[in-house]
Amino acid sequence: MRIFSGIQPTGAKHLGNYIGAIRQWAAAQDDSLFCIVDLHSISVAYDPEDLRESTYSLAALLVACGLDPERCILFVQSHNPDHAQGNWLLSSVSSFGELRRMTQFKDKADQQEFVSVALFEYPVLQAADILLHQTEGVPVGEDQRQHVELTRNIAERFNARYGETFVVPEVLTPKLGAKIGDLQEPAKKMSTTGGTAQGTVLLLDEPDTIRKKVRSAVTDSGREVRRGPGKEGIENLISIMSVATGDDFDAVEARYDGKGYGDFKSDVAEAVIELVRPIQARYEELRSDPAELQRLLAVGAEKARASSGPTLDTMYGRMGFTRP
Ligand code: AMP
Ligand code: TRP
Repeated sequence: MRIFSGIQPTGAKHLGNYIGAIRQWAAAQDDSLFCIVDLHSISVAYDPEDLRESTYSLAALLVACGLDPERCILFVQSHNPDHAQGNWLLSSVSSFGELRRMTQFKDKADQQEFVSVALFEYPVLQAADILLHQTEGVPVGEDQRQHVELTRNIAERFNARYGETFVVPEVLTPKLGAKIGDLQEPAKKMSTTGGTAQGTVLLLDEPDTIRKKVRSAVTDSGREVRRGPGKEGIENLISIMSVATGDDFDAVEARYDGKGYGDFKSDVAEAVIELVRPIQARYEELRSDPAELQRLLAVGAEKARASSGPTLDTMYGRMGFTRP
């Protein structure tokens, strides 16, 4: 199945991003596309220098997490101008009314002093990302489901009006690790925007920072390392441990039978440190070799343009545009 997913460059990436998204992308990467959506990042207030840095940084991190530019198409959205063009063409088959109903738009608009048209159009650009590459599946968290549903509507409308052009993509939500909780407030999802700093383990955190964050994770007044009602904190740590070690939940519970939370937390911290150690090493290597990173991104951009070009041409043709 050809999958496409996007991730914004701005904001430090954390364990939730890795477990809920990046790790699963790496597992299903052949013939698929992963896009650093820098064009989406300008829909809210941002700093240009920060955008540049975080784009390179995220590219290095994604490769470090196992996305292999030889096996998949890993690219920066703005390096493929077809996305911006597709956005404009698709905006003619997207209605003001349906965009106005998008909950992400409403939420984000409430938080901005200046509400840009880009924020309003955000889902149309996302639809262009997905549809230009004849994507079959879009792995995203629950919060993005509405945007993929909108993408399906846009695809169907275009197909009905201009003839079969797009594959109508499915939403793929991950089963395991769909939501990693904040360590301080486990009912909330780990996030650099909505969660707590102390409860968010960044992929680039130092070992000692990881130890502190995991040891101070909020649990319950009990002593058993088991899932159950009122034990969201422990359950969250069990999920993290399970991903870090590859053992299933039952095996993790069995291993800590009769042991206290202290031992368990120390082991979770060490397991997370081991999980991120090779990622951080590879990340540092790539960050210190900008030429290699540029080369990888150039390969990605070229493959991405080859993938979207024919569909964009078909769109122009069917919509009645003359071609040079
Ligand atoms: P974001 O950085 O929130 O735009 O998310 C990028 C990707 O990581 C999306 O596919 C999210 O669904 C996923 N993700 C973000 N936070 C978490 C979390 N706490 N648990 C699991 N997946 C997450
Ligand atoms: N809007 C997505 C998010 O915030 C990022 C994104 C942009 C995306 N284009 C995409 C995700 C295409 C999947 C497919 O997480």
